[in-house]
Amino acid sequence: MELRDSRIIVTGASKGIGRRIAELLLEKGAVVLGVARSTEKLRELEEKYENFYGLPCDLSDLQCCRAIIDTALREIGGLDILVNNAGFAVYGMVWEQDWRDIEQQVLVNMVSAMCLARKALDYMLEKNSGTIVFILTGAVFAPILGLSAYGASKSGLSYFAETLRHELDGTKIRVLNVYLGEVSGTEFFNNPSFKRLGERRCKYFCTTAEAVAKRLVEALEKDKEGRLYIPRILWLAAKTAPILNIAVSL
Ligand SMILES: NC(=O)c1ccc[n+]([C@@H]2O[C@H](COP(=O)([O-])OP(=O)(O)OC[C@H]3O[C@@H](n4cnc5c(N)ncnc54)[C@H](OP(=O)(O)O)[C@@H]3O)[C@@H](O)[C@H]2O)c1
Repeated sequence: MELRDSRIIVTGASKGIGRRIAELLLEKGAVVLGVARSTEKLRELEEKYENFYGLPCDLSDLQCCRAIIDTALREIGGLDILVNNAGFAVYGMVWEQDWRDIEQQVLVNMVSAMCLARKALDYMLEKNSGTIVFILTGAVFAPILGLSAYGASKSGLSYFAETLRHELDGTKIRVLNVYLGEVSGTEFFNNPSFKRLGERRCKYFCTTAEAVAKRLVEALEKDKEGRLYIPRILWLAAKTAPILNIAVSL
């Protein structure tokens, strides 16, 4: 599809992968509504790109979540692509995790994306066109010790996304499920809970925010749907890890 003038929502557009995705789309001439909590960072993007609109919103607040699609229809005149990217992890064994952190990971990583997709579909089904992207993780293929709640939220979202993809067979609405290895150039591991692991170097299926944004934009331009593994070798882990029944340490 031609990205110029496409109307796109990117959640988590303030930093990391979402920011690079938003910037690349803007450079292609798309009109982007970026969602995140960091008002200052959204303002920075608004100042740099005239086709960027920042929408401050805490995605754990479902009232705010519900308003995003209506805001897009009003502010950018429609919705061609929804990129569900926002997410975070709190590290700790199950018994060490604060209940509130578990709840927040589920709300932000899974429930908000489901809510946005559901609302977007009212509009997309009427037009019989559109693309919904879910940013997922290789963590759904094998348990990662200390990331139970994060992995559970992304596994739930993966199930939702894969099911939706099949439910939409026979329509012109595409679902693109993006499974990522470890990504550098983001603030994901800056959550204070990861401090106890000391200085971390990328261990598993390493890639960069830049590479993720490039592959995704290329896939959107080629009207790709289904699954995208970044890096490609992650495909092998997806096939073998469930058979090997292994758990992974960070
Ligand atoms: N980095 C990795 O190794 C890796 C691997 C696999 C998958 N992923 C996935 O990739 C996605 C992006 O992560 P990243 O690595 O780019 O991390 P990041 O640099 O920390 O960026 C996370 C983005 O999500 C937004 N966000 C977090 N909580 C939010 C909330 N409550 N409401 C609204 N926005 C919120 C953040 O914005 P504000 O803080 O401004 O709200 C930020 O823009 C996530 O879904 C993550 O699970 C990352």
